[in-house]
Amino acid sequence: MNQIVEPSSSFTFPANFVWGVATSSFQIEGAANEDGKGPSIWDEFCRVPNAIADKSNGDVACDHYHRWEEDLNLIASLGVDAYRFSVSWPRVRPGGAEAWNEQGLAFYERLVDGLLECGIKPYLTLNHWDLPAALQAKGGWANRDTVHRFVEYACHVAKRMGDRVAAITTHNEPWVMANLGHETGDFAPGIKNRKIAMQASHHLLLSHGLAVQALQAQGCKSNLGIVLNLSPVVPATDTPEDKALAQLKDGKLVRWYMDPLFNKGYPQDVLAYLGEDAPKLQDGDLRDIAAPMDFLGVNYYSRKVASSNGDWNVHKGGLPFTDMGWEIYPEGLSELLLRLNRDYALPPIYITENGAAFKDAITDEKIHDIQRANFIARHIDAVGEVMAKGVSIKGYMVWSLLDNFEWASGYEKRFGIIHVDYATQKRTLKDSAHWYRDFLLRMKAGQGQTEILAGRV
Ligand code: FCB
Repeated sequence: MNQIVEPSSSFTFPANFVWGVATSSFQIEGAANEDGKGPSIWDEFCRVPNAIADKSNGDVACDHYHRWEEDLNLIASLGVDAYRFSVSWPRVRPGGAEAWNEQGLAFYERLVDGLLECGIKPYLTLNHWDLPAALQAKGGWANRDTVHRFVEYACHVAKRMGDRVAAITTHNEPWVMANLGHETGDFAPGIKNRKIAMQASHHLLLSHGLAVQALQAQGCKSNLGIVLNLSPVVPATDTPEDKALAQLKDGKLVRWYMDPLFNKGYPQDVLAYLGEDAPKLQDGDLRDIAAPMDFLGVNYYSRKVASSNGDWNVHKGGLPFTDMGWEIYPEGLSELLLRLNRDYALPPIYITENGAAFKDAITDEKIHDIQRANFIARHIDAVGEVMAKGVSIKGYMVWSLLDNFEWASGYEKRFGIIHVDYATQKRTLKDSAHWYRDFLLRMKAGQGQTEILAGRV
């Protein structure tokens, strides 16, 4: 496979479609203890023996905190419309409550102003998982008090930058924070308790709804929304057991978040399954969670397969996998978006993350990551396909701008369209970055009608 597959849909993306690249604070910034930053739960989790595959941490990461101007130039060189980044809560409020850290706030203001000077729209995420450790010490997301600390944080950041950022996302992937962070314990804060996980998920949703309302009340002009990781869940076989499991997994992953956000309350089948582990709600919580928002962000990487005998790795179609062991299945993105559009009264959607980890080889300073370029092209195709069917999608962002700290996988998994040599911090555009830039140039030159330049391989 050496040729790049162009997006082939006959759909013409509108001129105001937002093309972007995405990162998050903990994964790229480094400067873990500088300029007044406090520790986050990920700083602490990295110190737990064997929590991170390569025993690494985020102390330096891509050193973006110091190299942000170079990175900004790289973003600009790609010709994208938008940059999705996150603010590190403990960098701007080290203890999670009380004092604000002016140096931290100034860092993000410089970044936002720098983006605007380059004509790039800032898409700001408030919580991409790096909760202040001081709040975890008080129970973290399982403690209802954290909800109010989050609303204060949202309001403060929006007062400083809300006039200049195109969008504010409250949370990135609450399912991951709740389930991987509190039920399986694979991610920070490393708790293994389903009851706590479900209470955390409720507080994440509640804090989203309350933050949206508080930001609107203070006159914030940015578009407000949340980002969910969503996938179609398919049964591994046609047995009733696998089908029932797929339905339950869909409930936990998709409906547990989509239903309350879109005013349907928590799904009854999941509540029944949880029994005693269902979260405690207070009057008005469901109304607050369903506060109308301006956009929904969808992160899509793969579909999920449900297997009741534990053999979830049944590959129906013999599909290829990424370096994460995730099936490459762009059709899942169209299936998912059509289903969401059918089942919910949606605001405009942004694909806020999509991309792939592959093992990259550097030859003569070049990285011929054709698989990654193909992955992106085929998913852009899927987006065009559903837009042609009337689904309102406003943007697409590649995960990720840079190779970075891939959570429990450490630095072993590379998602960047730009390679990072962690020993020297040298950045090198991979072929996928060149391809994305050239694709955007053609789109913007009015050649919106895309065509197959190379046959599907
Ligand atoms: C998503 C996360 C993002 C990155 C990608 C690969 O779940 O939001 O930070 O790790 O997966």
